[in-house]
Amino acid sequence: MSDTDDLAELAKRRGFYFGSAGAYGGVAGFYSFGPQGAALKRNVEDAWRETFTTRLGNHEIAGPTVMPEPVFEASGHLDGFDDMLVDCPGCGESHRADHLVEDATGVEDAEAIPIPEVEELIADSELVCPSCGTSLAGQPVEEFNLMFETTIGPGDGQSGYLRPETAQAIFVEFPRLKQYARNQLPFGITQIGPAYRNEISPRRGIVRTREFTQAELEQFVDPTDDDPPLADVADVELRLYPTTEQETVSGEYLVRTVREAVAEGVVESTWVAYFLGTAQRWYDRIGVDGRRLRFRQHLPGERAHYASDCWDAESEIGGEAAPDRLSDDPTAGEWIEIAGFSDRGAYDLSKHDEYGDSEFTVFRQYDEPREVDRATVDPDMSVLGPKYGGDAADVADALQELARRDPDAFDDGSVTVTVDGEPYEVASEVANFAVETVTEAGEHLMPHVIEPSFGVDRTVYTLLAHGYREDEVDGEPRTSLALAAEVAPTAVGVFPLVSNDDDLVALAESVAAELRAAGLDVAYDESGNIGRRYRRQDEVGTPLCVTVDHESVEGGREATVTVRDRDTTAQVRLSVDGLDDDLTAVVAGERSFASLREAGVVVGE
Ligand code: GAP
Repeated sequence: MSDTDDLAELAKRRGFYFGSAGAYGGVAGFYSFGPQGAALKRNVEDAWRETFTTRLGNHEIAGPTVMPEPVFEASGHLDGFDDMLVDCPGCGESHRADHLVEDATGVEDAEAIPIPEVEELIADSELVCPSCGTSLAGQPVEEFNLMFETTIGPGDGQSGYLRPETAQAIFVEFPRLKQYARNQLPFGITQIGPAYRNEISPRRGIVRTREFTQAELEQFVDPTDDDPPLADVADVELRLYPTTEQETVSGEYLVRTVREAVAEGVVESTWVAYFLGTAQRWYDRIGVDGRRLRFRQHLPGERAHYASDCWDAESEIGGEAAPDRLSDDPTAGEWIEIAGFSDRGAYDLSKHDEYGDSEFTVFRQYDEPREVDRATVDPDMSVLGPKYGGDAADVADALQELARRDPDAFDDGSVTVTVDGEPYEVASEVANFAVETVTEAGEHLMPHVIEPSFGVDRTVYTLLAHGYREDEVDGEPRTSLALAAEVAPTAVGVFPLVSNDDDLVALAESVAAELRAAGLDVAYDESGNIGRRYRRQDEVGTPLCVTVDHESVEGGREATVTVRDRDTTAQVRLSVDGLDDDLTAVVAGERSFASLREAGVVVGE
């Protein structure tokens, strides 16, 4: 593969993606996908939807991208969604302090290091501003919250934030979603859509941006009861890089099937292992190079505030020489995170249960009714009423809720509950706390969440990096993209051999129309010589090209055309009659080009 600049240049020139609003000087971290890129991204999303929503029997929702502040107070993003920022005293440019330290010192996972130690590392390593060279020693490192804030409504309005992950738009709707699932665990909800992060230093094109697309699945499970259908992926082989190997000098990859990874405890959660296997299969299908893909477990200090365990899918996006060198050395190559697989436990739902007004639990019926102890309160309203006026009823409700959630809180002489952000202290004897024995038909259970979270833009970047080829055809240099037919922006290029023959053009146009009617994305092109037209399609990854020539026109009802394979440039003559079925089968991965060659008349050998 060529270097990153070649890929970025190709992406811009051929309409995959480019910095947005160029006419106004652009703004870092925002990209537009051109016609080729938008089609590639849409195909990746469709393939993801087919696997993670349809085949797994899940349901997709579409939530808003702006949500009010209390949602992010509950989710922990307001307090804990920070990166380390250091400003250059010379040019004023802001940098990610942890990235500067990692790049200059070889320290891994600097994000997990306390700020004073990062400041020390900056000073000791004599780090300078990458933009102007001014020393950064002595500069304060600060926590910078990555959420974009906005105001909802006119005037002072209500404070809101652009969602930093699509997940929260699923969690906040759980009280309704559980009803649609008829209170039956496990069930999965997916969402594909934009997320926003005010990244300190966006970099490498669409790899780190401020607006990007996530494809997320929130799998709600009963932690005591539910198991995934592990057998479906038990034999899928994974290249795993667990914490134990990362923390060992000359640590190695562990290549294990999903079954082995679970049996040996390399991946602790069976649900996480199940999704790693499903993801590996999906990556194979859409054309991620298996030699440049691995699953790396997060080190303890690296995990997000909500995760008890997390594995990242990482792809290697360095140079062409990388794949062989990479096979067994985890420290070689340039890796980016393209998806995360987290065990979020009960963190999110219990937080929203605590902060929101609805119940985020599901009701689980017992086989037989059971006698259980239940904590209750019977607040003395003759005390609460005069003391708290219009808020008294809400305080009573909050006491009831506290008794359900944390009965031990009533052990002391008084309890404090929060209503609309205000603390209210109530004497335990006024709350009238008691534990009574009742017969219950079931229990309210807080589901756990397992979350596969994919970055669509980084997946697109990976496909471009892994598909990029430079070779020679007929003595001429050629650039091509070996994209899987299922995700390639264009499935078939159709060309008349010459553009000044009406019969030939008419036949080519009708072939293109027939292929489009069969649901294939077709690019019709009659400009320039045929070699140039092949090169143009090769560069955007079109897997098949059809050329209509004089022999085609002379064939009448028995007309044949030449079909060319992008990667091998091999050709075959096929009948126009049935061409739509033949090419659809190849694009769907049901037939190989080699099998077309067996069925047709081979050209050029
Ligand atoms: N809900 C979990 C979550 O958001 P994450 O690891 O922060 O987890 C998931 O993000 C995926 O989103 C990442 O694996 C990555 O592919 C993508 N992503 C995160 N930040 C990004 C950014 N600034 N630009 C592009 N993609 C990003």
